[in-house]
Amino acid sequence: KVLILDFGGQYSQLIARRVREQNVYCEIKPYDISPEEITDFNPQGIILSGGPASVYKENAPDCQDIIFSGKWPVLGICYGMQLMVHKLEGKVQRADSREYGVMEMEIKDEKSKLLHGISSPTKVLMSHSDYIPYAPSDFKVTAISKNTPTAVIENDEKQLYGIQFHPEVIHSECGREVIKNFLFKIAKIDADWTMDSFIETTVDNISSQIKDKKAVCGLSGGVDSAVAALLVHKAIGENLTCIFVDHGLLRHNEAEEVMEAFEGKLGLKVIKVDAKEHFLSKLEGVTDPERKRKIIGNEFIHIFEKEAAKYGQGEFLVQGTLYPDIVESGTKTATTIKTHHNVGGLPEDMFFTLCEPLKELFKDEVREVGKKLGLAEHLVNRQPFPGPGMAIRVMGEVNDEKLSLLRKADAIVREEIKAYDKENKVWQYFAVLPGSYSVGVMGDDRTYQQVVAVRAVGSEDGMTASWSHLPYEVLDRISQRIVNEVDGVNRVVYDITSKPPGTIEWE
Ligand code: XMP
Repeated sequence: KVLILDFGGQYSQLIARRVREQNVYCEIKPYDISPEEITDFNPQGIILSGGPASVYKENAPDCQDIIFSGKWPVLGICYGMQLMVHKLEGKVQRADSREYGVMEMEIKDEKSKLLHGISSPTKVLMSHSDYIPYAPSDFKVTAISKNTPTAVIENDEKQLYGIQFHPEVIHSECGREVIKNFLFKIAKIDADWTMDSFIETTVDNISSQIKDKKAVCGLSGGVDSAVAALLVHKAIGENLTCIFVDHGLLRHNEAEEVMEAFEGKLGLKVIKVDAKEHFLSKLEGVTDPERKRKIIGNEFIHIFEKEAAKYGQGEFLVQGTLYPDIVESGTKTATTIKTHHNVGGLPEDMFFTLCEPLKELFKDEVREVGKKLGLAEHLVNRQPFPGPGMAIRVMGEVNDEKLSLLRKADAIVREEIKAYDKENKVWQYFAVLPGSYSVGVMGDDRTYQQVVAVRAVGSEDGMTASWSHLPYEVLDRISQRIVNEVDGVNRVVYDITSKPPGTIEWE
């Protein structure tokens, strides 16, 4: 397995995805983990990510010297490379001209291990203001670019490799090959991490975590919590009870559909809790998005606690938290964009111990596990729906009236895009109630009514997304139907913001 040290780079998670694509397990850890933690992790290779800092600035992120001792093969990317050179007493300095964008890179050494099989020149993504004017004496330079005399440096004896470009992004043509060379030619790791092996070790881990105690699982109907439940069920069987909470923030017919899909299926025991009024009263008068998220997260847990006590189910709470949820909710190096309800929204006095079997996985990996565990295709490929539900799609205060209006508009959006998108190309789509009013004219009369926004995006894992270029005819049908069929709406707009700079949800 590979250890990725995160120096706060935008692409750290992508590095992990690229490694896992090669069936090699890896984890991302903060840059300053201790030598003991590194040794305990027992990596077969270490990758140092990029990051926004400059090595020569005060308090620049630093890592343990032992990393460069020759004990492990190390690949430093961008800042990671600069830090390696800086610590090995080479030189890093500010460049006269920053290099940002796709550049041509020329390979200078045919015997390079890292660049094996790559033809020169090749295009790579550069994104740096600092550079290394010359390599430390025991390194050889194996590639250069116009503004970087040290695009790739290698020291085979100490197994240290540095690359100034970003191999993890698709813009670097040879990126995948470079990662493969590092994993297989240099670190000589076996490609044996598959979803089958994941299931096997995870079920074992859950069994030894929960033993003969009992657990409850918050089932939302989405693929993440369903897969988490199935894994735990495989490990502890009857001792798992799934709880589906109808918080009143669900979409049209959703509660019925979820119960239909899961109750008594795949061996799962599912209980439905109706808490519509409870959630709405807690959300009364609340307009701040982060507060809404926190309140909803807390209330979920309180309900799980109450239910667990009722059924004599104690100790463990199973959640379908994914890796991106954890990173996006704010780790040491990433800023908090949103508190995902199942991560940051937990009450401090919670008595459950968490069991989060998916917290190291990306969404596409969870889907693969779901398929292997027998989850039906339409559930495996179900669109993500956030835990806080429509509360974060109604801007401002949430109430019954707004929810009912949005539910109707959303049902139309989903029906129309589903009819058009037969192959499930669009990743996620829904309606939003921005809370603005506009003047219109209907049947010779002036109207002053709500605006509905339509959101549809393409994405791989929700980390980045681009707005979908839906055909005008589809947008037209959606607009006409919403204005005609949903009382109180006289205008429909289409959200043409990608992520970044927007996020997928509006709150
Ligand atoms: P954003 O809005 O952060 O959304 O770009 C990325 C993906 O995550 C979903 N999402 C959530 N899922 N709990 C969840 O389980 C949450 O609190 C939450 N917030 C956003 C969102 O629907 C999108 O797919």
